Amino acid sequence: MRRIAVLGSTGSIGVQTLDVVRQHSDKLQVVALGAGTRAAELLAQAREFNVRHLAMGDVSLRDSAIAADLQQQTCPSPTSVSSLVGALSLPTHGSLGFGADAVVDLVRLPEVDVVVNALVGAAGLKASYETLRAGKVLALANKESLVVGGDLIMPLAARVDAARRAAGASPAAGPAGALMPIDSEHGAIYQCLLGENAREVSRLWVTASGGPFRGRTKDDLREITPAQALAHPTWNMGAKISIDSSTLMNKGLEVIEAHHLFNMPYERISVVVQPQSAIHSMVEYTDGSVKAHLGTTDMRIPIQFALSYPDRWDAPVTPVDFTKLGHLDFAPADTNTFRCLALSRAAGERGGTLPCVLNAANEVAVAAFLSQQGSYLGIAECVEAVMDAHEAGGGGGVQRVESIDQLLEIDAWAREVAAGMVR
Ligand SMILES: NC(=O)c1ccc[n+]([C@@H]2O[C@H](COP(=O)([O-])OP(=O)(O)OC[C@H]3O[C@@H](n4cnc5c(N)ncnc54)[C@H](OP(=O)(O)O)[C@@H]3O)[C@@H](O)[C@H]2O)c1
Repeated sequence: MRRIAVLGSTGSIGVQTLDVVRQHSDKLQVVALGAGTRAAELLAQAREFNVRHLAMGDVSLRDSAIAADLQQQTCPSPTSVSSLVGALSLPTHGSLGFGADAVVDLVRLPEVDVVVNALVGAAGLKASYETLRAGKVLALANKESLVVGGDLIMPLAARVDAARRAAGASPAAGPAGALMPIDSEHGAIYQCLLGENAREVSRLWVTASGGPFRGRTKDDLREITPAQALAHPTWNMGAKISIDSSTLMNKGLEVIEAHHLFNMPYERISVVVQPQSAIHSMVEYTDGSVKAHLGTTDMRIPIQFALSYPDRWDAPVTPVDFTKLGHLDFAPADTNTFRCLALSRAAGERGGTLPCVLNAANEVAVAAFLSQQGSYLGIAECVEAVMDAHEAGGGGGVQRVESIDQLLEIDAWAREVAAGMVR
């Protein structure tokens, strides 16, 4: 039985993770749930999966009416304890916390083996870091963690991999599995690399759907509204990643994520638009062979693989019918119109604290756009301006990444500068 904590359980990835657990309740058990603001949803999940460790990021919920129900779920009253324990062999008490630290605390619980980090934004950084520091497996959807803190997270993952090997907890061959990507592109690359020699890999091809505005010019994008940008052609996702997908910032963040996860130099990571989203990504080898990962476009598949590795479990999906697939199209990404992709690559190549600044500025500009305080094209403008300011020495200038505290400080600086620049 793998005992998992799901952080961001009320979001798109979190809800789909719980769906995977429903399908495989003989192999997966949810022991902790964390979310931001949607307490009623979290409570319903806790009741369904009998979860006793809960945390809400929003501290103001501590004094809300629902806090008592959450408390009751984590520490049932003596009468309900005897009936529940008798009926379900449940532990008699758990924990309930509010605030960012309480969410992170869940990863250190002794009963947690695997943490699914499905938080959104740099808010997920500390959770990723602490999961690996605690020696647990990190199933990572929160790509921002790696974008911002890949320099700190990857060495920790290597340490957990080594400990898993030493303890005989890793598969006989292949990666030890301390850091399992959930992003479909990275899950695809991970699988294409299994059984291969890393020295024989010549290129990673990260595929992109191109988003809802593929083929548009910059002029076409001037008046784009949040509703238009939220309508992704292939995936149904949270608001922030939907906007990132439309600006191609998401693809840019994924290039940085791929660089860290697979230790690949940027000049050997290419992006290709594959509008059908049938190919989830590809790996090219030194002999010119290319391995591609194809499959149904359902995020529950990469989520499940991150939890089942090294095994594959059945999934209730309709497999791709290649006789009906028709054709597969490929095109280069338009980095002139979609500046965020070029900006991410530039930030990744420069490295240090610049990706942290890129990410923070993007989060501020996307939030401003969603609340109609900023324009669509203003997102890339804001990100570029804050990156320029950092490169010119603002926030102490671009530095080597040394610690989480340093990253949090620079993140805060970038957010403040970005807030003054959204338009
Ligand atoms: N959705 C996809 O298909 C997909 C695919 C690949 C990768 N990803 C990545 O997965 C991550 C999650 O994406 P998503 O689409 O699932 O986002 P989402 O639907 O917006 O869900 C985000 C989750 O994080 C919680 N949360 C947000 N801020 C928090 C905070 N400060 N403290 C505690 N909890 C907080 C939210 O809680 P409340 O809602 O309760 O406030 C929610 O449960 C992102 O990094 C995204 O890039 C997503």
